[in-house]
Amino acid sequence: APSDLFTPERLNSKGWDIRDRDDLDAIDKARSEFSKTMWRVGPLVVAESSDGEVVAVQNPAKPSDLVGLVQYSSEETVKTAIENAQKWDATPVERAEVLNKAADLYEQYFGTFFALLAREAGKTHMDAIAELREAVDFLRYYAARATELTNPARGIFTCISPWNFPLAIFTGQVSAALAAGNGVLAKPAEATTLTGVFAAQLLHEAGVPVSALQLITGEGRDVGAWLTQSDKVNGVCFTGSTRTAQAINRNMAEHMAPTAPLIAETGGLNAMIVDSTALPEQAIRDIVASAFQSAGQRCSALRVLYVQDDVADLFLEMLFGVMDEQVIGDPWDIRTDLGPLINQTAKNGIEAHVNPYGQAGRVLKHVPFPAEGHFVPPCVIAIDSISELKEEVFGPVLHVVRFESDELDQVIADINATGFGLTFGIHTRIDDRVTDVTSRLNVGNIYVNRNQIGAVVGSQPFGGEGLSGTGPKAGGPDYVTRFTDPGRSVAAD
Ligand code: NAD
Ligand code: ALA
Repeated sequence: APSDLFTPERLNSKGWDIRDRDDLDAIDKARSEFSKTMWRVGPLVVAESSDGEVVAVQNPAKPSDLVGLVQYSSEETVKTAIENAQKWDATPVERAEVLNKAADLYEQYFGTFFALLAREAGKTHMDAIAELREAVDFLRYYAARATELTNPARGIFTCISPWNFPLAIFTGQVSAALAAGNGVLAKPAEATTLTGVFAAQLLHEAGVPVSALQLITGEGRDVGAWLTQSDKVNGVCFTGSTRTAQAINRNMAEHMAPTAPLIAETGGLNAMIVDSTALPEQAIRDIVASAFQSAGQRCSALRVLYVQDDVADLFLEMLFGVMDEQVIGDPWDIRTDLGPLINQTAKNGIEAHVNPYGQAGRVLKHVPFPAEGHFVPPCVIAIDSISELKEEVFGPVLHVVRFESDELDQVIADINATGFGLTFGIHTRIDDRVTDVTSRLNVGNIYVNRNQIGAVVGSQPFGGEGLSGTGPKAGGPDYVTRFTDPGRSVAAD
């Protein structure tokens, strides 16, 4: 094998530095070509059987901006795709080479991705850069893992991804399944199909055969269901809401072999504890990033801040000051800190959650926001305990609980009692407290004295416990192995 395949000069994608004028100009120039493009896409399959309905994609920041038209896959097309799906007939080294080539193509086509991520998914500059880097990292990391496998592929995997990481998670799922040699039926989220299709086109261009990677367009409730109800499918990789994972689990139990794995990464009700020894400026910076970056549309985002009562007034005053400075608006504009929610349904959901608190006088802060587009004001709500929240609140809404130092045991018990266990953050300068608190929480990813978003592929494997996921952790050493068949390992002298 070529030696540079496994020892790349740079392990993680170099990315783009927007403080550097040359990088910034390069991004602006490359994406400007696509500021008015209207993409037209449909399923990428071995053989399309019949046409499905055509659906318009609108820019969530400016719904009058028509970003594209997507032809959904008909039921017949999905059935034919499942029939035609094939394992990837290539050696591990060949697979690694193709995935590495795809990573290079992703970086080469950064202008298209940045345009799509802003106009289709409402991603700010910083979010789009982080997302493209993560996608490239997944490709290179799983390419390297392909060459270490001892078990064969399972067969055919259905990969179903969410809209909030339309490139990184789509690519992570698909590249892991492919790295193991499986054939893949990939279904991007309906809201971000254009990004998924472009990524799949680059994977094909890099050398993945269409029979080993077919992209199915369409709604989760029908297309997603068809793809998880076939005994020809040998496993499902899903990232999305806990409720959808449960529906898929029921489908699989009824239609697939009991050995078919469900790899599910789902939602969270993520907390952070800030005690009176925390450094205020550092903690505030990390609270703002954790709660409001990506307009709170991250599974890892901070939802409930526990702040010690002695310092709560100071912390809230500082937090509100930063919130007043944040720029909410069109993600195409480099000054924007917070973009829109993905669609009107998401906006309605957040408003339905926040309004009763407003009526009860418990909204401590909200800030002005643009009238056009699916924007909601970032806000802070006073609650008594995390146990008031029964579901993930997927937007820029931070709930705050004041606690006394002798209530820490109850705080830990309440966080564990939610059943979710995705991310947790703690800000303290008491080392023993870090050890004590983190050892008692059932949470997948714990962050100490920093923000709690943006896990880095290869160094911070990401995934939750309980209602938040099945494991294994994405971007970690065990992930690709789960896409292989442990019952069929080959031994030779
Ligand atoms: P969602 O569950 O509504 O949809 C996710 C995907 O599932 C989409 O492609 C959708 O079309 C499909 N789908 C919907 N119903 C289906 C069904 N019955 N059968 C098969 N597929 C179906 O989630 P979403 O709104 O797209 O994404 C946001 C959610 O994803 C949040 O809950 C967030 O926490 C979670 N998420 C988790 C992680 C993680 O790593 N843990 C990462 C990102 C997002
Ligand atoms: N991996 C993503 C994060 O850590 C979801 O924010």
